[in-house]
Amino acid sequence: MPPVVIALDGPSGSGKSSTARKVATRLGLAYLDTGAMYRAMTWAVLERDVDVEDAEAVAEAAAEIVIESGTDPQAPTIIADGVDVAGPIREQAVTDAVSQVSRVPAVRERLVALQRQTIASSDGIVLEGRDIGTVVAPDAPLKLYLVADTAARAARRAAEEGQAEVAAHVEATAASLQRRDAIDSTRTTSPLAKADDAIELDTTHLTLDEVVDEVVRLAVKAV
Ligand code: C5P
Repeated sequence: MPPVVIALDGPSGSGKSSTARKVATRLGLAYLDTGAMYRAMTWAVLERDVDVEDAEAVAEAAAEIVIESGTDPQAPTIIADGVDVAGPIREQAVTDAVSQVSRVPAVRERLVALQRQTIASSDGIVLEGRDIGTVVAPDAPLKLYLVADTAARAARRAAEEGQAEVAAHVEATAASLQRRDAIDSTRTTSPLAKADDAIELDTTHLTLDEVVDEVVRLAVKAV
C-alpha cells in the first residue's frame, strides 16, 4: 500500500505549520515543512552572495546546494550544506528573499524531487506548503487548503515572533505576508493554488486545537 499522504497548502500564516505538526503527532505520521526547504535553499543562496533577482545565477547555485530535512513532527530539522539552519531561515533577510528564489524552476525541480523521495520512504506523512496538492502529491487522499484573514495571519506571525503587542510590527508583517502571497500565487511554475479536490478550511475564527480536530476528523474519514 502506498504511504498515507496528507497535503496542507495555503498562504503564509494560515496556520499550516502548527496544524501539520500536531496532526502528524496525533496520527503517528512523519511531517515535512516544505517552506523550510525553500527557506534553507534561500539561506544558502544568500550565503553565496548570489543576487536573488538573477534567476540563472540562482539556478546555478541551487544545483550545488544540499538540503536535508528530518521528519519527526516533534523535532523537525533542516540542514543546508551541512549547517543546521533552523534558526537562520526565520530571519528577515531570508523571509524577504524566499519568494524570489522559490519561483526559479530549477529550485522547484530539485526540492519537489526531494519531497517525493521523502514521501516514498515514509510510512505516512503530512506535508505543508504551497503546491503539495497540485504538484508534489496530486494523488494525496486528503488535501486541505487553509485560509485566514490577512489581519489574523499577521497577528499570529507577529505573536510567533514575540511582538504581538507592537501594532507597527503587525502592520509590517501583514505587508510582508501580502507581498509574498502575491509573488507565490502569480509565479509561472507551480503557483500557490487550491487543488480542485482540496477542502478549504477558514481558520480565521478557529483555535489551533479546533483546526487540528477538524483535520484529524477528515483524515480518519479519508484514509
Ligand atoms: O511556509 P513558509 O512561509 O515558511 O514558506 C516560505 C516561502 O517558501 C513561501 O512564501 C514560498 O515562496 C515558498 N514555498 C513554495 N512552495 C512550497 C512551500 C514554500 O514556493 N511548497
